[in-house]
Amino acid sequence: MSKAFDVVVIGGGPGGYIAAIRAAQLGFNTACIDAAVNDKGAAALGGTCTNVGCIPSKALLQSSEHFEQAGHHFADHGIGLSNLSIDVPKMLARKNTVVKQNNDGILYLFKKNKVTFFHGRGAFVKSDATGHEIAVTGDKPETLVAKHVIVATGSNPRALPGADFDEVNILSNDGALRIPAVPKVLGVIGSGVIGLEMGSVWRRLGADVTVLEALPVFLGVVDEQIAKEAHKAFTKQGLKINLGVRISAVTSGVKSGKKGVSVTYTDAAGKEQTLACDNLIVSIGRVPNTVGLNAEAVGLTLDERGFIAVDDDCKTSVANVWAVGDVVRGPMLAHKAEEEGVAVAERIAGQHGHVNFNTVPWVIYTSPEIAWVGQTEQELKAEGRAYKAGTFPFMANGRARALGDTTGMVKMLADARTDEILGVHIIGPMASELIAEAVVAMEFKASAEDIARICHAHPSLSEATKEAALAVAKRTLNF
Ligand code: FAD
Ligand code: NAI
Repeated sequence: MSKAFDVVVIGGGPGGYIAAIRAAQLGFNTACIDAAVNDKGAAALGGTCTNVGCIPSKALLQSSEHFEQAGHHFADHGIGLSNLSIDVPKMLARKNTVVKQNNDGILYLFKKNKVTFFHGRGAFVKSDATGHEIAVTGDKPETLVAKHVIVATGSNPRALPGADFDEVNILSNDGALRIPAVPKVLGVIGSGVIGLEMGSVWRRLGADVTVLEALPVFLGVVDEQIAKEAHKAFTKQGLKINLGVRISAVTSGVKSGKKGVSVTYTDAAGKEQTLACDNLIVSIGRVPNTVGLNAEAVGLTLDERGFIAVDDDCKTSVANVWAVGDVVRGPMLAHKAEEEGVAVAERIAGQHGHVNFNTVPWVIYTSPEIAWVGQTEQELKAEGRAYKAGTFPFMANGRARALGDTTGMVKMLADARTDEILGVHIIGPMASELIAEAVVAMEFKASAEDIARICHAHPSLSEATKEAALAVAKRTLNF
């Protein structure tokens, strides 16, 4: 016998679980299907973000940053330490505990909001006027029928051709988060978000890290001035960043029973080089996950890159089937997935939920952190838009000096005529938190002068944002 629901969500990551909760809040009889398991074979709700993404990476970034501070910066505060050591298994166990707390938290939220959870894989069977039929395969096979389906099946790491992930030597984000001991030499292919975050974790713990990037520019999506500052900071920390390389071969010792990986590549000067490393993280982007969904059974259209094709409201090519998160166009970010999940649930309820892509913030949780919202200076130039720029260095901020963390700046870009804020770019301490003020300002279409006239607590890092706003009008007070 099939079980009937108003809304069935396939995928329990940030897009799916948040959509399910919002749908239930709006009074729909809602189910969520998720296939993920933890190392004990139990359900692990929360998707890539919770299990092998945002949460565990930030746990390890925090642990490794403590180690870095204790080893290199406590002495500046007059704090002496001897015999500093690192217990990697304990660090990984702590990270696993943080993940489990989040898994359990989502299960609790499902109970609280009366979302029915099915652990297993969901696949379309058929769609007709009576609704959509979904088969759940797993420990307890079920058939569900739904008026509305929200697909939130996420993404998977992209492998280099001919170099499949073995998660021992050649690591995706999954393996990169559970290397059992600090590698002597770590290779990273791709200097994007994962490469820099995970490269930073293992570099801080003592690995010799070499990053190989295909593009000739570093962090091309980031404002050029900020990317330059980041390149300087990461190089100073010891990350060996090689731009403009072409990978020709990756040979893992796993198949031949040997340790390590060998990477052959042509460098920017056209010279062939070999990197021998203990582990290699391949972080060259992610691909949408529609495997096993049987999307073709109901006529779901995919775009040319394999994403489920959706319109601005996340409607797919099939009536009452919606798709959100990494499996559709747009940035692969947990908060973007969540916003889409809420907007779809509200649309199903006849409301007008929508996502403002222009105010979706980005954060790279390295040290210094990098965060931005809106347009970069190079984008504004390419558009021919007249703008004013104001920057303020953390070096001139009292709180940053007290923290002993003065790298970086806040940069604000505003329309030359109206003064409306068009972009805010931050590199420095707590950029991930500071960016929230810029998001609010842009969402409310604030001008740079609005921020400049708001009282900011002293001493605080947020004063750098106020000063960057003052700098737009060339009237900083503290620089
Ligand atoms: P996912 O989180 O991928 O969830 C999809 C779920 O669907 C999974 O549980 C999967 O098992 C399940 N599933 C798939 N197919 C089926 C099926 N047929 N039946 C049942 N279940 C199915 N983003 C940020 O915003 N901030 C960060 O700090 C950040 N850090 C990251 C760090 C790393 C290392 C990685 C890899 C990603 C990070 N991201 C971060 C990106 C973020 O994880 C994703 O954007 C986000 O998880 C996407 O959410 P989603 O719900 O679309 O998909
Ligand atoms: P990415 O798109 O951020 O970076 C991939 C990098 O690999 C690019 O610089 C690209 O030029 C390079 N590359 C591609 N092919 C290559 C090749 N053959 N050889 C060498 N370099 C190559 O992708 P990444 O780091 O895998 O992360 C995937 C996504 O996950 C991110 O785009 C982001 O959306 C999300 N994420 C978000 C985080 C956050 O919000 N803090 C943290 C981690 C991931």
